[in-house]
Amino acid sequence: MILIDGKKTAEEIRKEISVEAKRIFEKRGSRPHLAAILVGHDGGSETYVAHKVKDCQEVGFDSTLVRFEDNVSEDELLEKIRELNINPLIDGIIVQLPLPKHINEQKVIESIDFRKDVDGFHPVNVGRMVIGLPAYISATPQGIVELLKRYRITTAGKTCVVVGRSNIVGRPLSILLSMKGEPGDCTVIVCHSRTPNIEHFTLQADILVAALGKPKFIKANMVKQGAVVIDVGTTRVPEASAKNGWKLTGDVDFNEVASKCSYITPVPGGVGPMTRVGLLYNTLLAASKKIYQ
Ligand code: GUN
Repeated sequence: MILIDGKKTAEEIRKEISVEAKRIFEKRGSRPHLAAILVGHDGGSETYVAHKVKDCQEVGFDSTLVRFEDNVSEDELLEKIRELNINPLIDGIIVQLPLPKHINEQKVIESIDFRKDVDGFHPVNVGRMVIGLPAYISATPQGIVELLKRYRITTAGKTCVVVGRSNIVGRPLSILLSMKGEPGDCTVIVCHSRTPNIEHFTLQADILVAALGKPKFIKANMVKQGAVVIDVGTTRVPEASAKNGWKLTGDVDFNEVASKCSYITPVPGGVGPMTRVGLLYNTLLAASKKIYQ
């Protein structure tokens, strides 16, 4: 069994991105610049956004954090996005999700200029990705594909089972892995909450991706011997002995499953760090006008 070290791989990629960031600065006199919008004070969102700002600093990007209180109106939020859309100093824009219930999340996503949509959530980017055109690809699926690439895990002809059909992980990943090319050329099965007998499908997986958000859902009896197992779960499970009072827990019961795998990602230190680096990569693409002019 080989443990896939997402932390180390992400560190390597951050170094590559730093080199490119310097090159951009020399060429145009400004650093790649990410604008992040955070609404409210949700603990998880606060942490994620703080990571994004810190990650930018580390690779030599500029970042602007725009904060709003929970009671911000949808119009006020849309107005700020309009402003960032036309600001030539801003390369990439993200709005941290989830948003309060009174704000239409989809409307907010679609208000971001797709050329600056470094989360890859805008329907233009999703649509372009589906038909194989250059597009911003959302950070987690991109990070997973990059791990498969860098660990030289062949995917062509393999059966890949993705458990979970979210817009930001399961669905885009299922599409990427079925595309022509390497990584890709998989036969993909997408399982979800309405799939009966889920183990019937997961047992066929040469590559099994767990992205459903249920801690330790994947047990040893659901995994084929020699499978590659990618764990996307990041649930905070209460644990009294932990310093924060919780422990980040994956969707795979690692202790049961690991010995059956050819490769497995741990939680933490697997997919998570790659998700963080995916956003930096997209911001770099935006600053270097690699996808849109
Ligand atoms: N909330 C959870 N994951 C994400 C993400 O990748 N981007 C944004 N904007 N919000 C999120």
